[in-house]
Amino acid sequence: MKGTKIVLGVGGGIAAYKAVMLARELGRRGAELRVLLTPSATRFIGAPTFGGITGRAAITDLWDPGYPGEVHVELSEWADAMVIAPATANLMARVCAGMADDVVLATLSCMNGPRLLAPAMHERMWLSPATQRNAERLQKDGMQLVGPVRGPLASGESGWGRLAGAETIADAVEQAIATARAPEQARPLTGRHVVISAGPTQEDIDPVRFISNHSSGRMGFALARVAVARGARVSLVAGPTRIAPPEGAELHSVRSARDMQSAIESLVGDCHILIMSAAVADYRPAEIAEQKLKKADKGAEMRIELVKNPDILAGLGAARKGALPVLIGFAMETHDVLNYARGKLRSKGADLIVANEAAVGFGRDDTQVTLVSEENDEVLPPGSKLEAAARILDCAAERLEAAEASTTKS
Ligand SMILES: Cc1cc2nc3c(=O)[nH]c(=O)nc-3n(C[C@H](O)[C@H](O)[C@H](O)COP(=O)(O)O)c2cc1C
Repeated sequence: MKGTKIVLGVGGGIAAYKAVMLARELGRRGAELRVLLTPSATRFIGAPTFGGITGRAAITDLWDPGYPGEVHVELSEWADAMVIAPATANLMARVCAGMADDVVLATLSCMNGPRLLAPAMHERMWLSPATQRNAERLQKDGMQLVGPVRGPLASGESGWGRLAGAETIADAVEQAIATARAPEQARPLTGRHVVISAGPTQEDIDPVRFISNHSSGRMGFALARVAVARGARVSLVAGPTRIAPPEGAELHSVRSARDMQSAIESLVGDCHILIMSAAVADYRPAEIAEQKLKKADKGAEMRIELVKNPDILAGLGAARKGALPVLIGFAMETHDVLNYARGKLRSKGADLIVANEAAVGFGRDDTQVTLVSEENDEVLPPGSKLEAAARILDCAAERLEAAEASTTKS
């Protein structure tokens, strides 16, 4: 988002403190920010807090002496987009009524570019007829709502009304700006079904022990986020991870390689792009003990017999017959990465293998990968997993178009 200018408006709700995380996320992506608080918001969070994050204290007053002209007019002309997070029920109602009685609403009412609101409130407040009516009205008036999502609420209850995550809101802002700049290319995966596997698998030894690996799920989750932002219907088949799954994807939680295989097989029927980024265990214990294995039973040494797990990628590659237009696999190795990836490309019947070294990939937000295909090896520069995901999905979309064009011809 380098060079992108964003106004972040903050409403007076309990989630106002999370606007700081959003400001940090937008800043981390390279956006330049101006933060505006409603008078109520200042009761929840202080303007100087945003100064520490953005380099400028938040503006809380339409009559800000730092702006000799009209602050709302100047900022609405400066910004590429405006996002309000959290948007309270009261703020939504005021926007619907066209009110402009504070710096947030006055700026919003002047904005020409994309306007996004991320509501956050108690579930009963969100589901109240007036708020639902207002939510609909705001969208008819051209504003985009991000969330709310379902989850734990400030009241201690759980339900609809939780503020969407900072990454989800930042993704939506980024996507809205891209759409405004190039509407024809903005959501190139609309109408497509993308299936992504992510994370490790766990293979049980007994009821309390398992064999697994260090995969964090970050790469698969980054792919899911980019695919959602590009308009795809995304099915995410994920092994156990410690990170939150992306909002907007349909999550299928699995544990073992065989669970993962059956989940994926149930989804490939209408799938356009399948990306196997999960680190699937090659072997599993031949038998799972029904009860916890005791130390006394084991003696000085203990051996676990392992049997081969199904090779999900190879199975899908072999059974494609044109039904699955694009199949992408991952190869993570400690050495000789590209040779192994080329071998995998051929042996698994995949269109593309994303090759990376274990030392640069596991558990981190950044990565460095090479996209290995029959045509060439494309070495991507080191960067975030989101950037790598964006390029992988560009390639997948190009291959999908080519596959469809050749089917039409034949
Ligand atoms: C402790 C406290 C927490 C509140 N949390 C929320 C909230 O999460 N969402 C909401 O819509 N209103 C919430 N309210 C009510 C708003 O603060 C109130 O409607 C306010 O006028 C909203 O101001 P705004 O329009 O500037 O956002 C809360 C009020 C209090 C006292």
